[in-house]
Amino acid sequence: MEYRNYYLSFLVALCLSCPYTCLLAQNPPYKAVNLGNWLVVEGWMEQPSLFDGIVNKDLLDGTQVQLLSTKFQTYLAAENGGGAAIVANRASASSWETFPLWRVNDTFFNFRVLNKQFLGISNQGGNNIVAVSNSPSNQETFQIIRKTDDPLKIRIRASNGLFLQVQSNQTTVTADYQSTTSWADNDPSVFRVKIVRTLQGEYQLTNGLGPNKAPQVLRSHWSSYITEQDFIFMSQNGINAVRIPVGWWIAQDPNPPKPFVGGSLAALDNAFTWAQNHGIKVIVDLHALEASQNGNDHSGTRDGFIEWGDSYIPQTVSVIDFLAKRYGNKPSLGGIELMNEPQGVNLDSLKKYYKAAYDVVRQYNPNAYVIMSNPLDADSKVLLSFVSGFTKVVLDVHYYNLFSNKFINMNVQQNIDYIYNERASDLSGVSSSNALSFVGEWVDEWLVQGASKQDYQRYGQAQLDVYSRATFGWAYWSYKCKYNQWSLKWMIENGYIKL
Ligand SMILES: *[C@@H]1O[C@H](CO)[C@@H](O)[C@H](O)[C@H]1NC(C)=O
Ligand SMILES: *[C@@H]1O[C@H](CO)[C@@H](O)[C@H](O)[C@H]1NC(C)=O
Repeated sequence: MEYRNYYLSFLVALCLSCPYTCLLAQNPPYKAVNLGNWLVVEGWMEQPSLFDGIVNKDLLDGTQVQLLSTKFQTYLAAENGGGAAIVANRASASSWETFPLWRVNDTFFNFRVLNKQFLGISNQGGNNIVAVSNSPSNQETFQIIRKTDDPLKIRIRASNGLFLQVQSNQTTVTADYQSTTSWADNDPSVFRVKIVRTLQGEYQLTNGLGPNKAPQVLRSHWSSYITEQDFIFMSQNGINAVRIPVGWWIAQDPNPPKPFVGGSLAALDNAFTWAQNHGIKVIVDLHALEASQNGNDHSGTRDGFIEWGDSYIPQTVSVIDFLAKRYGNKPSLGGIELMNEPQGVNLDSLKKYYKAAYDVVRQYNPNAYVIMSNPLDADSKVLLSFVSGFTKVVLDVHYYNLFSNKFINMNVQQNIDYIYNERASDLSGVSSSNALSFVGEWVDEWLVQGASKQDYQRYGQAQLDVYSRATFGWAYWSYKCKYNQWSLKWMIENGYIKL
């Protein structure tokens, strides 16, 4: 009797101390949510914006500018896309006329060209502006001076202290203009900036804030954006896993390379603790790779060039080694994802990396799930035969009825049919391999204008029906977002989605 009472009170205590979900084994298939914009910033998702405190916040790293001479009404161009002179004779602007910025500080910048060289003063004399250097030094550094009441009107001061001007023949741009300006349009040193692409990722934020402001802004973001309360909310609303995007610099915490800031590792540690407390699994997702695997904001890129490849495999494997060593045997680990959304990456390099990174995880845990992301620019069957050589491996596919012209004119029913037909068929192809299948990103959003709540409910339910067939489960993008449909928290609280 005594033993039985003890046993009962133990059970009661256990039940009171944690919700029933934590008594159930948390195994795939998961109903997960992405903790996007937490440890890898994506400026489009947040309001108020962490970027607000940045001086010249429209001129961040990777901002692509085109420069129109107000006098000649022509654009600057890198002849041949780079490796030659800068000229000013183009009536319209395209890729040779587009310069991604590298930000040195609030007002000093480097201008990159299509073939990756940097604008600079020529060593050949004449103060001619050329695009020949592959790495920016003082000669390739320029100050942008903006007209106060018309900030897209600028002058550009070179390292010799003189301003760039367009020569009358428009085939030469020189850094030799001395005069002050009244900003008249016929001044050959005045340009109008056209911004054609911006990036708002972790690199842009940390480098834009600079070394004095970035640590404080980022640490306060990490400690407030996601808290244990969110894990309680998730466990009470049927979510049993989180996918957490992290950047490669986390492996060098607390002193990551500039401009990144230390402290995201402590936040990830907290997530593991909270997950453990509330019966949730953590999928660690290497979302941002050194040199960028897709050129997007969320890849940690500086300027949008995709430069990840063979030469970056060793250090990327070390990041996985670091993560697997630290978290590989945590009871709340749901899996380690080796790379998010490769796009424009060589397939053989990708496979070489996946094999090496898989082996490194296995050194720490023979059973942890290892997740491999399908390349965005390839068919979802492209890795099926490759993964047959592994065990406990998961293939991650992302399904958005967005980002493609084919969805532009689809109505509500066509979107829903697309889920039950095309998505279901694609997913069953992935699930038929020896790997588990994972819809690691999806959202109850589309290109339909003016959809009703009921439309969203039907479309969301269609996706839940189909993506629940994924053998590893699914993860909504994202937990929080300023756009309601992109916030699973908002969608649950407002009755759009019920799990
Ligand atoms: C910004 O960078 C330029 C070029 O390196 C340097 O001359 C200038 O002093 C820097 N300004 C500040 C405020 O650090
Ligand atoms: C254009 O003008 C500059 C400055 O007068 C001169 O140095 C350059 O040789 C000229 N270029 C051509 C192609 O005429």
